[in-house]
Amino acid sequence: MEMNIRPRRLRGNEIVRKMVRETRIDKSSLIYPVFVKEGSNIKEEIPTMPGQFRYGTDTLLKALEELLQAGVNKVMFFGIPDYKDEMGSQAYAEDGIVQRALEKARAEFGNEMYLITDVCMCEYTSHGHCGVLLGQEVENDGTLELLAKTALSHVQAGADMVAPSDMMDGRVRAIRQMLDAKGYKETPIMSYAVKYASGFYGPFRDAAGSAPSFGDRKSYQMDFHNRREGIKEALLDVEEGADIIMVKPAMSYLDMVREVKDRIKLPVAAYSVSGEYAMVKAGAKLGYVEEDRIICEMAASAYRAGCDIYLTYFAKEIAGFIEEGRIG
Ligand code: PBG
Repeated sequence: MEMNIRPRRLRGNEIVRKMVRETRIDKSSLIYPVFVKEGSNIKEEIPTMPGQFRYGTDTLLKALEELLQAGVNKVMFFGIPDYKDEMGSQAYAEDGIVQRALEKARAEFGNEMYLITDVCMCEYTSHGHCGVLLGQEVENDGTLELLAKTALSHVQAGADMVAPSDMMDGRVRAIRQMLDAKGYKETPIMSYAVKYASGFYGPFRDAAGSAPSFGDRKSYQMDFHNRREGIKEALLDVEEGADIIMVKPAMSYLDMVREVKDRIKLPVAAYSVSGEYAMVKAGAKLGYVEEDRIICEMAASAYRAGCDIYLTYFAKEIAGFIEEGRIG
């Protein structure tokens, strides 16, 4: 009898294809990054990120309510202070913008909304660098204490989790020690461990007004040619006490998501950053790509690469696509 040549793909319809999907996406793993600024009744569209806004502390609550309704219950706050100085003092001020947003969100939503904060100095320093300066150089060790203070003040104001994005060496340990010492042993740290110096952050820096006023971030963010260095960064952060390891950006760095997933026994987060969002929006506006389809593919590819958590400005849209059965 002749051998039956099997088709490469499983026969069947959409129901079967869905049954054998290798990658599952769940709304519970989505985190929505959001920009908060001083003032009320503010909802400013970010020019390079159409559909994303800078919210005042009151309009923020409405945006969060909509997010919850879509089934996304995790957010990460970025603060845009009115006042910046050399030491980034608004980052750790008790009445800083993120601290107040946290208090309001907690009061409004209780534990329904999981509140994460980005911990960094660049939105708060007058020079736009992620740490304090000594001359023209970012002073790594001198910055650690301020980052730890910032993380602590976020947690005291109600943050459920902190996410240091500054890339100073030793900051996960400094933050862990500070939180433990103050009785916040259970508060997890999601470390931006594998963070590349990337042109994909352009729109974010527009949104937050955080572009460095001189130089670049290459002395503390990673060279995009490097892979082993990323593993080294991740391993060090594990040692220092990180609970979740993030890779950022996502789309051009999916090899790193897989690498970290395989080598490190912690949950992995992938951050699809502002430039990824902006490219999708621009391409769709020009009619060059189909927005919905590529949002789905970008998300699925991050999960296929191995992420457990996906940070994306498209969180609400993705939740909708999951609901419609287009992905997930
Ligand atoms: C702060 C920070 C940045 C982003 C997240 N945290 C900007 C940067 O490193 O310049 C980028 C996020 C995005 O582009 O969406 N250091």
